[in-house]
Amino acid sequence: MLDRGVIAQNLGNTLSETKFEGLGERYGGKVRDVYARGDRIVMVTTDRVSAFDVVLGTIPFKGQVLNQIANYWFDVSKEIVANHIVDTPDPSVTVVKRCEALPVEVVVRGHITGSLWRAYAGGEREIYGLKLNDGLRRDQKFPEPIITPTTKAGAGEHDAPITPAEVVSRGLVDRRLWDEVCKKALALFETGSKLARERGLVLVDTKYEFGLQGGRLVLIDEVHTPDSSRYWMAAGYEERFAAGKDQEMLDKENLRQWLLDRGFSGTGTPPALTDEVRVMLAEKYIELFERMTGRTFEAHFEPISDRIETNLKKAGYLS
Ligand SMILES: Nc1ncnc2c1ncn2[C@@H]1O[C@H](COP(=O)(O)OP(=O)(O)OP(=O)(O)O)[C@@H](O)[C@H]1O
Ligand SMILES: [Mg+2]
Repeated sequence: MLDRGVIAQNLGNTLSETKFEGLGERYGGKVRDVYARGDRIVMVTTDRVSAFDVVLGTIPFKGQVLNQIANYWFDVSKEIVANHIVDTPDPSVTVVKRCEALPVEVVVRGHITGSLWRAYAGGEREIYGLKLNDGLRRDQKFPEPIITPTTKAGAGEHDAPITPAEVVSRGLVDRRLWDEVCKKALALFETGSKLARERGLVLVDTKYEFGLQGGRLVLIDEVHTPDSSRYWMAAGYEERFAAGKDQEMLDKENLRQWLLDRGFSGTGTPPALTDEVRVMLAEKYIELFERMTGRTFEAHFEPISDRIETNLKKAGYLS
């Protein structure tokens, strides 16, 4: 595990934005810089961090951690569903097949927590087409994982909850394809939960994006990363749950909690990230990488943009 002091020394060496000329048509997402050309996308995972759909700054080593965790999961899940991976020319870069993204984000939840818990605690019982029983407790495990889809919002907008029936009736995805999407999402979540459990982690919930390529269903975007998922430490989960205590989290929820404690939940001016919270989040992300993959995180200390440029040239994506 990378020393906290080493992470702190790298607070100034983060990748906030890229502008590579000649790599393709550039699109800056909240976290990734995407360069599209033809049916190929070069996806650079920057160190940007967003919460409540607002970009707040950068976290040391985050881009590499996210990219490598996603690639770990794409590899172990490829028997379940085909994915978009083509090449990984740099620790922070993945080349993918460009797909027609389905306009829904497929959220699978094993426990009631986060935004769903907040809605439930506020009295909502019918949401996402589900009928939730009274008497659930925060972080409680569902008997079976549930799917809570959201529409994929445009830039600057928040994703909105939608029922599975509406996904079909609004014509976002046709019935047969939606059934296949749900089946794949649940299978991915089952495998993810099982592998996480073997590594002492609970995969709490996650978000999948799917696309179509030549009529075939493909898993795209990122999989089971600490940006798109919640992870808890398995040790002590039951005790904390019984005592009504917060779970030990290895994901972006640590930052959301820090923001909520300072009164920010997506509107108004966000508080500036302190060095302390930036180092804390880096530690959580690196710890998750190491626990989940069983590998030591290999940190690189040269300027990240230069490293990426060199690797893209070596692999022939840039001249
Ligand atoms: N194989 C793929 N083909 C086409 N688009 C993809 C593929 N994989 C991922 N994407 C899209 O690339 C973008 C990745 O960038 P990022 O995750 O930073 O964006 P975001 O903040 O989630 O979304 P937004 O596009 O709203 O900014 C997402 O819009 C995602 O849907
Ligand atoms: Mg995204």
